[in-house]
Amino acid sequence: MRILITAGPTREHLDPVRFISNRSTGKMGFALAERAAARGHAVTLVAGPVTCETPAGVRRIDVVSACEMLDAVRRELGDAQALIMCAAVADWRPKRLSPVKLKKRDMEPILELEPNPDILLTLQPDKGGRLFVGFAAETGDPLAEAQRKLIAKGLDLLAANDVSQPDAGFAVDTNRVTLLAPGCDPEHLPLLTKHAVADRILDRLERLNL
Ligand code: PMT
Repeated sequence: MRILITAGPTREHLDPVRFISNRSTGKMGFALAERAAARGHAVTLVAGPVTCETPAGVRRIDVVSACEMLDAVRRELGDAQALIMCAAVADWRPKRLSPVKLKKRDMEPILELEPNPDILLTLQPDKGGRLFVGFAAETGDPLAEAQRKLIAKGLDLLAANDVSQPDAGFAVDTNRVTLLAPGCDPEHLPLLTKHAVADRILDRLERLNL
């Protein structure tokens, strides 16, 4: 299969040295890319700013902001049979971007934001026969919100992780996810390495592609 994967955070700059972002390190998305390539899939990885090494055999495209990630995914989607959106895309960006470092005295104490495009929703009309896989990073009641995202974003598969737990979600080598698919019972996975979680997601994706 030709699989397009996104990983890492996006950064939304307000000037050349300041930005808003999140705690994603790219570990989960890079584990997916590594395992998918090892299984013989052709993998393109669109990565936000991370320090992970590019896995062997993976074609990597680096981006910074959500808008750049949307452009890259839109460009690469035509050739892909599946899209796995593992990136933690920032939902908001500063309304104004200064080309020079803002002086403290020129800054307002209130940062004005505007919404970023939702990549999965924006590309929904171009989905065609492709498989779309999402992640949901939740705190609180992960399953209810993840079920809502599965339907709202028109996904074939969604991995819900409870990011309030110290051994799952952001920045750690392990994850505990529940896999949701339309019309299927939730599949609760135990605590696994991110590479093992990647394998379980790819098992489901390969079955959906039959
Ligand atoms: O990178 P790590 O440190 O290993 O951490 C892994 C992870 C916690 C980032 C990963 O497992 C994860 O949960 N990624 C998705 C995080 C997220 O943005 O979840 P969300 O519930 O906000 O978004 C739901 C889905 O919509 C995701 O597939 C997301 O990629 C996508 N999305 C979100 C916002 C946006 N503007 N466009 C999108 O397409």
